[in-house]
Amino acid sequence: MSRGAISTEKLTKFYGDVRGIHDLDLEVRPGEIFGLLGPNGAGKTTTIRLLLDYIRPTSGRATVLGMDARRAGVEIRRHVGYLAGDFAAYDNLTGAEFFEFLARLRSNVDRAYLNQLCEQISFDRSRKIGTLSKGNKQKAGLLQALMHRPRLLILDEPTFGLDPLVQDQVHNLLRAAASDGVTVFLSSHILSEVEALCERVGIVRHGLLVATETVQSLKARAVRRLTITFSEVVPETVFASLPGIQNVEVSDGRVRCQVTGSLDAVVKTAARYRVQDIVTEEPKLEDVFLGYYSDDDAVAREVKNAG
Ligand SMILES: Nc1ncnc2c1ncn2[C@@H]1O[C@H](COP(=O)(O)OP(=O)(O)OP(=O)(O)O)[C@@H](O)[C@H]1O
Ligand SMILES: [Mg+2]
Repeated sequence: MSRGAISTEKLTKFYGDVRGIHDLDLEVRPGEIFGLLGPNGAGKTTTIRLLLDYIRPTSGRATVLGMDARRAGVEIRRHVGYLAGDFAAYDNLTGAEFFEFLARLRSNVDRAYLNQLCEQISFDRSRKIGTLSKGNKQKAGLLQALMHRPRLLILDEPTFGLDPLVQDQVHNLLRAAASDGVTVFLSSHILSEVEALCERVGIVRHGLLVATETVQSLKARAVRRLTITFSEVVPETVFASLPGIQNVEVSDGRVRCQVTGSLDAVVKTAARYRVQDIVTEEPKLEDVFLGYYSDDDAVAREVKNAG
């Protein structure tokens, strides 16, 4: 039996001919915040549903909190806080009524903790859920996932569609839970979110796990786009040979380039001239994959698995 909070062995789900997730080997350690990062259709929701036994694998297996996902689904769900990607509550109930309804079903709800959480993220329990904004509905979803103090949180895109302020509140809530010893497993397609929140990340695409990385090494691989505007003429050649730099274009005192990993050499070189402005674009998820697909092994693996 695995000691991990979540452990999967060649976990596979096909919907007919469509690959949901294929040969997934994943190990989530107790107490960590782990992010499953991938674009639309990558297999994130499929993985999460398999873990909770809402769907059955085509082959392979999953263990959650030391229990077999297929045999102990009910017991697992007692100890897990789950937020579905398409969370929908009972629109006609107020927040308070919704939580009370769940509290009676679940029996293990910590009401004092729930009160504290509602205050922390300014959630108004007196309003009917159907009348709440998307952000506030999502808050209700998070609160129901946390209210019974689960040992493991499984959250499918928990901050999708939330504004930055609410996103921050949610992140703080999850960090606080993690520092209390709760394991957090979340899916996301937003690189900056997993970077801000997670310790380790599994990267999925087309139903395949491309890599499992610490956030630190993910950042080291990230390809960033950078534009530096100078108030003097800069020789074309000075940037071209810097480590990690690619696709350098120089025109009208403006340098555009892509940088993999640290920006140190580029910034120090730029500082030798009069700099007017520096703009860096957040790496897009596709750029992260570029970092992996320049690695021949990863390409070979994907090609082999896709067959
Ligand atoms: N019930 C289903 N029937 C058929 N195909 C499905 C079903 N559910 C998912 N799929 C397919 O499985 C693949 C993985 O889907 P999944 O929903 O797991 O991706 P995801 O990473 O959660 O994507 P998103 O970011 O859009 O939520 C997709 O190609 C999807 O079309
Ligand atoms: Mg999904």
